[in-house]
Parts: sequence; C-alpha cells; structure tokens
Amino acid sequence: MTLSSTWPRHGKVTLKPFTEPLSETEWRRFYECFRDPEIAEWNGSRPLRMPLWLFKRVVMGEVGRGDRLGFGILDEQGEWLGTVELYELTPSEATLGILIGAKDRWGQGYGTDALKAVLAYAFGHMGLKRIKLRTYKHNLRAQRAFLKAGFRYVQKPAQSPPRLSFGLGPRLEFVAMEITKEEWEGF
Ligand SMILES: CC(C)(COP(=O)(O)OP(=O)(O)OC[C@H]1O[C@@H](n2cnc3c(N)ncnc32)[C@H](O)[C@@H]1OP(=O)(O)O)[C@@H](O)C(=O)NCCC(=O)NCCS
Repeated sequence: MTLSSTWPRHGKVTLKPFTEPLSETEWRRFYECFRDPEIAEWNGSRPLRMPLWLFKRVVMGEVGRGDRLGFGILDEQGEWLGTVELYELTPSEATLGILIGAKDRWGQGYGTDALKAVLAYAFGHMGLKRIKLRTYKHNLRAQRAFLKAGFRYVQKPAQSPPRLSFGLGPRLEFVAMEITKEEWEGF
C-alpha cells in the first residue's frame, strides 16, 4: 500500500481522499462500516441495505457534487479503519462526521488523530473558519475524542431524566460542538 505524502496525516493515521481510487478491500471495509447496526445506532442512522455496487455509485455521485469532502482513515499499515467527512460545505464552514468501523480499534487514539488531521486540512489548506458537529448526548466516547481534538460544546442540555415519547422509548438527546479556526490555532 503506497500512502501519498500529500494526504493529510496526524499521529498514527493518514487520510485517503475519496477522490483517490479505492481498492476492492477498501470499498468493502467502507461499505461494511455503514452496514453495521451498532455503528449506525451511534451515528443516528439506519444500517445500509443497498448492494455494494449501488453504494459505490452513490459515494462517487456525492464526491462529484462538491458540497462534501470525505476521507478514508488509514492506520500505520495503510489499513482502512473508517471514514471522516466534511459535509454541508460552504466557503467558510462545514459539518463533520466520523466513524471508525473497526470496533476493536476504538479507544486507541485513531479517532482523535483523524480529527486532528482533518481539522488541519480544513483550517490550514481549505481556509474554513468553523467546523460544527452534532452527536448523541450519551456518546461519551465520541465527545471525549472531539474534546481532545479541540472542539467545545455549543450548548449542553441540563441533566434531565429521559422523557418517554408515546411508547417510543427514551427520547435521544443531542449535543452540539464546534471549533473555530482561531480556537484551533490556539489549541
Ligand atoms: C467516536 C469515534 C470516532 C472515536 O474514535 P476512537 O478512536 O474510539 O477515539 P479515541 O481513542 O481517539 O478517543 C476516545 C476517548 O474516549 C474515551 N472513552 C471511551 N469510552 C468512554 C466512555 N464510555 N465515557 C467517556 N470516555 C470514554 C477513551 O478512553 C478515549 O479517551 P482518552 O484517550 O482520554 O482515554 C469511534 O469510537 C467511533 O467510530 N464510534 C462509533 C461511531 C460514532 O460514535 N461516531 C461519532 C458519531 S458523531
């Protein structure tokens, strides 16, 4: 596996842009990550049901649209661990999403390194001014990684018991976090 020296990197990870040709193994890992029910739940989405060929077509369509930018997160050996994306891109802002699909790699710093690499790219190379995100209030692992990369809470809801919504179970609450270019420079 050849890692281009121009791809964003930090610590243990290198970010491979989706615009680069992906190997069959990388496509498969990318796809499996979005089919995993546990990861989908943490991500507030449903596990993907579409076949791999259609997934490839959807991703390539989004890559060409210009309002989002995605990267594969590669480890020290160049192995695909997950993805980090900037979407809802404007000339000054973007929203961030991140998934490490290899669950046995959670909690080892790969997520934080990927966040630091993408923030350096967004603020340094792209000249963005603010990166925002939203995550579940109960997703403490993700929040810890975001805090370690320099994000702060925008508003943190007061502690309250979960409310029941007509038999649909506890209402899931979100927290919003963000980082500005100035905050990143001073972090
Ligand atoms: C969120 C995610 C990207 C973070 O990546 P990661 O590689 O696991 O994160 P890191 O190892 O860099 O940092 C995680 C931190 O959370 C801590 N942590 C783990 N579980 C925790 C918990 N239940 N409560 C508080 N902190 C926790 C870890 O100890 C670590 O902090 P430390 O380095 O100070 O010890 C990854 O876990 C993931 O993809 N999860 C599933 C999908 C998801 O939640 N995506 C985010 C949606 S917005």
